[in-house]
Amino acid sequence: MASVPALSASIQQRVSAALAAAVPSAADADPLLRRSDRADFQANGVLGLAKRNKANPRELAAEVVAHLPEDDVLAGVEVSGPGFLNLTVSDAAILRTLAARAEDDRLGVPTAADPRRMIIEYSQPNVAKEMHVGHLRSTVIGDALVRIMEFRGETVIRRNHVGDWGTQFGMLVQYLIEHPHELDHESGETGGAAMSRLDRLYKASRAVFDSDAEFKERARRRVVDLQAGDPETTELWQKIVDESKIYFNAVYDRLDVLLTDDDLVGESAYNDDLPVLAQELEDSGVAVRSNGALCVFFDDVVGPDGQPVPLIVRKADGGFGYAATDLAAIRNRVGVLKADTLLYLVDSRQALHFKMVFETARRAGWLPEGAAHHLPFGTVLGKDGKPFKTRSGETVRLMDLLAEAVDRARAVVEEKSSGLGAEEVGERSVQVGIGAVKYADLSTSRARDYVFDLDRMVSLNGDTSVYLQYAYARIRSILRRAEGRTPKAHPQLELAPAERALGLHLDELAATLDGVAETYEPHKLASYLYGLASAYTTFYDQCPVLKAPTPEMVENRLFLCDLTARTLNRGMGLLGIRTPEQL
Ligand code: ARG
Repeated sequence: MASVPALSASIQQRVSAALAAAVPSAADADPLLRRSDRADFQANGVLGLAKRNKANPRELAAEVVAHLPEDDVLAGVEVSGPGFLNLTVSDAAILRTLAARAEDDRLGVPTAADPRRMIIEYSQPNVAKEMHVGHLRSTVIGDALVRIMEFRGETVIRRNHVGDWGTQFGMLVQYLIEHPHELDHESGETGGAAMSRLDRLYKASRAVFDSDAEFKERARRRVVDLQAGDPETTELWQKIVDESKIYFNAVYDRLDVLLTDDDLVGESAYNDDLPVLAQELEDSGVAVRSNGALCVFFDDVVGPDGQPVPLIVRKADGGFGYAATDLAAIRNRVGVLKADTLLYLVDSRQALHFKMVFETARRAGWLPEGAAHHLPFGTVLGKDGKPFKTRSGETVRLMDLLAEAVDRARAVVEEKSSGLGAEEVGERSVQVGIGAVKYADLSTSRARDYVFDLDRMVSLNGDTSVYLQYAYARIRSILRRAEGRTPKAHPQLELAPAERALGLHLDELAATLDGVAETYEPHKLASYLYGLASAYTTFYDQCPVLKAPTPEMVENRLFLCDLTARTLNRGMGLLGIRTPEQL
């Protein structure tokens, strides 16, 4: 494991040092280095510095140039316009840096200097209910963040905070007591069958609940039994949870995400902590009684009528709700699990809930300032621009949706690849179809809504996973055909513009991942990979690889191919997307 400094970082360092040498009082001035079309990089920082020092910017720029070290990293420096620096990196420096990356299993990406201990909470479906596209987003984005953070060397604890608690379980359990065979089934349950059974149970119990006042009362008493840990009630509740787990795990398996039963810590897990927590909040004065309920108030949270809207810790009837559970989870995650960073992948409609929960936990002394982040995401829309629903207006069943994506992908795979066996076609179709769904989600910036459009998602053109998978497979095929000629960097060679562009892009993986980690936005990695595949396509169009003029050039281009393939493979892997060897 050897981390390799990026060329942009080396140049940044050189220009900073030259700036400091030219203007000693500006030792920490930012050279404002950017990638540029005119040269490889442009530094715009001289301008502002000249302004502050009332100096002539062009003269100052010339002075900075004079202080740049004479080595073979920079091939050219020019002062342009009112005092920009255009910097060109030498071909040799590009190839040497890339060769060092190729030596390293991590492609020279460093691990975090000061690793954090983070909880990433994601997926969070509700027991006895179908997962929907909102859970899809949380699951896919959360899983990519887990992979990226772990690759950076952070300690990550996954949490799947499933909704397995609350009044509806009184209804479900009571119904099961009165209809004992409702959940019986043969062994070898599939996820879909488990979900259908739960769905029936839910609908049937709901119907009785809504029509039969006496059942409603029995269901209400059943909630009390459940919260008190009554054995018969708990056993039936567990049966419902277990049945749901079969379904969740089938979805996770299909989605190819990391979540396992060990990550599943539902709302119920915090039940015993709730009375203690409420007492603490009341004793410390963070929460106060209001109309019988235990509440926390905020100056800046008021309803449409101007009245303050509190966070309700305990309802007037003594029951605890969603918010109390979240407070208990924070206490556990910081106090027991010793996490320093808490991330919550939950849709943006819950922003106010998290704002109030975090602020309450902070006031109570359970949560350090700035340690918790709600990472909201937008809504998945149908082609009509409205929240994605079936034609009859119901929420779309996630399993059906994924099955359809795999079906569409099958058509693409069959068209693209001749001579694949049925089993391979099946496997590829899953990798392409699931990859398409995940990528469409991950390549959209988190906060934005996006349209669920399978036609676009499985297209070979444009910013899709299929395009990236295809680029990867094409490179692998070239490498297979290279027969005896091995990828090797030859730093003495002169590079064509498309080779330079590809090389400089390859060098930016670590900086991209830093950006993702800073804002928790995996779409930055997706767009980096799309840029990489595009740079590769240009290179491939302009630079023959196996038919390059000299053996050194063949090896050097194979080297660029190989490093591109490895970078694509690594990057897609960090998004949780497979890269088949052949498409
Ligand atoms: N189960 C909830 C839902 O489906 C999401 C839970 C979000 N996480 C949390 N800690 N409150 O809407």
